[in-house]
Amino acid sequence: MILKTPQEILKMRKSGKITAAVLAMMGELARPGVTTGELDRKAERLILDMGGKPAFKGYMDYPSTLCTSVNDEVIHGMPGDRVLEEGDILSIDTGAVLDGFYSDAAVTLPIGDVSEEASRLMEATRRSLEKGIEAARAGGRLGDIGNAVQSVAEGAGYSVVREFVGHGIGRKMHEPPNVPNYGAKGTGIRLVGGMTLAIEPMVNQSSHQVRVDDDGWTVRTRDGGLSAHFEHTVAITDEGIVLLTVL
Ligand code: MF3
Ligand code: CO
Repeated sequence: MILKTPQEILKMRKSGKITAAVLAMMGELARPGVTTGELDRKAERLILDMGGKPAFKGYMDYPSTLCTSVNDEVIHGMPGDRVLEEGDILSIDTGAVLDGFYSDAAVTLPIGDVSEEASRLMEATRRSLEKGIEAARAGGRLGDIGNAVQSVAEGAGYSVVREFVGHGIGRKMHEPPNVPNYGAKGTGIRLVGGMTLAIEPMVNQSSHQVRVDDDGWTVRTRDGGLSAHFEHTVAITDEGIVLLTVL
């Protein structure tokens, strides 16, 4: 893993503000009748206007600024002509690069009024991220994070995706270590000040199993159940955790 200096963390914080601004704007724009492609165009414009570059566009030939994953889509849904409908849940994942540093974050949003069950899933996933972040402490272990996420998600009756995980982040979008959303307390590498991580629980309503569509990107639940995704880029410091992808 690559430890960051306080100056580098400050740069990541500035990058994270752009990513947070995009997700905040999406919260205003995502409503029934809007297409995922329209959201993508507005997101790209905002990132460029703020002086950054979209982190995902061009990454392994990915064509867009956002990943837009609806209902049973878990991650990496591709923006396009799909019209959002009342009752959908939309996971939006995005990232920015500024001054050489990446940030990466995601939220799942309700489109209009959604079912009680969909709300409960989104809330449990948001809370699993919150608890995962609280567990990311200098002196702790990597497994503490996954264990916290998994405990909240499974405690609410849901499952965590195994095939995709969080990651270190910095001058590249993906740096070591992998940050699984499952694991045992007190296991894995020791967490130390200067680590910057993207913690990103992907939580399924029923089975944790997923498959990838023929487009090579869209990951969806095998059983057609709903899925939610929340993500923040954070820095571990000796003074505590710092959220980088907030306004
Ligand atoms: N948040 C995702 C990740 O951490 C974003 C990657 S999507 C891609 O891997 F399109 F850029 F690949
Ligand atoms: Co990520």
